[in-house]
Amino acid sequence: MELPFAEPFKIKMVESIHKSTRAEREKRIQEAKYNLFKLRSEYVYIDLLTDSGTGAMSDKQWSEIMLGDESYAGASSYYKLKETIKDLLGFEFFLPTHQGRAAENVLFSVLIKEGNIVPGNSHFDTTKGHIEFRKAKAVDCTIDEAFDTQIIHPFKGNVDLNKLEKVYKTYPKEQIPLVIVTLTCNSSGGQPVSMANLKAVYDLSHKYSIPVYFDSARFAENAYFIKIREKGYENKTIKEIVKEMFTYADGMTMSSKKDAIVNIGGFIGFRDENIFKQASVFNIMFEGYITYGGMAGRDMGALSQGLKEATEFEYLESRVGQIAYLGQKIMGYGIPIQVPTGGHAIFVDVKRFFPHIPQSEYPAQLLGCELYIEGGVRGVEIGTLMADRDPVTRIDRYPALELLRLAVPRRVYTNNHMDYIAASLANVWERRNDIKRGLKITYEAPIMRHFTVEMERL
Ligand code: F0G
Repeated sequence: MELPFAEPFKIKMVESIHKSTRAEREKRIQEAKYNLFKLRSEYVYIDLLTDSGTGAMSDKQWSEIMLGDESYAGASSYYKLKETIKDLLGFEFFLPTHQGRAAENVLFSVLIKEGNIVPGNSHFDTTKGHIEFRKAKAVDCTIDEAFDTQIIHPFKGNVDLNKLEKVYKTYPKEQIPLVIVTLTCNSSGGQPVSMANLKAVYDLSHKYSIPVYFDSARFAENAYFIKIREKGYENKTIKEIVKEMFTYADGMTMSSKKDAIVNIGGFIGFRDENIFKQASVFNIMFEGYITYGGMAGRDMGALSQGLKEATEFEYLESRVGQIAYLGQKIMGYGIPIQVPTGGHAIFVDVKRFFPHIPQSEYPAQLLGCELYIEGGVRGVEIGTLMADRDPVTRIDRYPALELLRLAVPRRVYTNNHMDYIAASLANVWERRNDIKRGLKITYEAPIMRHFTVEMERL
């Protein structure tokens, strides 16, 4: 008999989680003003709000915590991380930051000016926030296939080269400080970008003298998809694929809270020493001295170890396999999701789930609340609420996709939890036609409103 798949780890420490009653959850979500970010985590049974900073560190990573060198400058933990980044990703220069958006803040302080245009593949919300905060514009050049959840395409995170070239032809190069490629593309469903596409973006951008930066939070999951889906890479190791991917970048930002499996941390990688030096000034102002940048020495050690573990094939096979397992279960109930399933999450297609509820009533947020009420499972809206208002007209932007993301933390939940999540969602699916109306906003912040929004049922 062929042996079934099993995880390449065993569990050394556990944390209790608690179920609640439906009546309790109805009260909690009302108190949280229908904003899932406002729920206390102890009121959540299975937390799929994010895969960011929520992973389980390994025994080797915890060992690094004990070995951390907390010297202000020149800590050995910094040099350990520097060496790993050089070996694994190939960047000579790097700056540690406290997390991914801090890396964006430091880098963009050097590169982005008012009136600039920053193309990319569905920029993540903090990335877009940092661009728009500087009165620059993010232009989405993701391939059209990404916006139809039912089209099967192996690399739905790819950049559409025609859309990108149109941007390069429309604006002078002085107005385009960089292009950002997000790996995997979170906003379009954790969808990967192919090696061929990375190379093509690099070649095209360099033809127009535009530097390429990767938003690399889920770079290892991206490499896994290249190995299993792209011809010519099946026999390469993940580490070889990762090394090649980054040859097509002039620099990168990293939220280490995802694929690097640490609870906090980030960094920026540079090839150009001059940009590194300019960014160092901002790093010192915003983050901390250039050899710690807002991270403790111990966190840099754990991050260095996490980068090595995250680029092991066996780990990635179980990680991405668990997402696929959850996807299969959910699809088994007939529920529409973004296919093929991506690297870190299942994205429920809410326009198909609730076709009778208009985007102006925030149906993905509604589904998030209903799923919480049903099973104590917390997801996150990636739809009209997150798309925010247009910064100039202040009118709601209606995104092509209205999604509920169920992001799975790394090495944290078992497949029994996946079965429970799918069944909870199936129960909402069963009663979807009884849910007639969505939500309305009673308070919102001027930018990135979804974090603090207050809502009520219509
Ligand atoms: N880039 C991408 C693609 C991300 O997904 C995130 C964070 C960031 C940058 C910012 O990094 O959180 O360390 O400051 N994504 C989280 C999420 C929050 O839930 O997807 P950060």
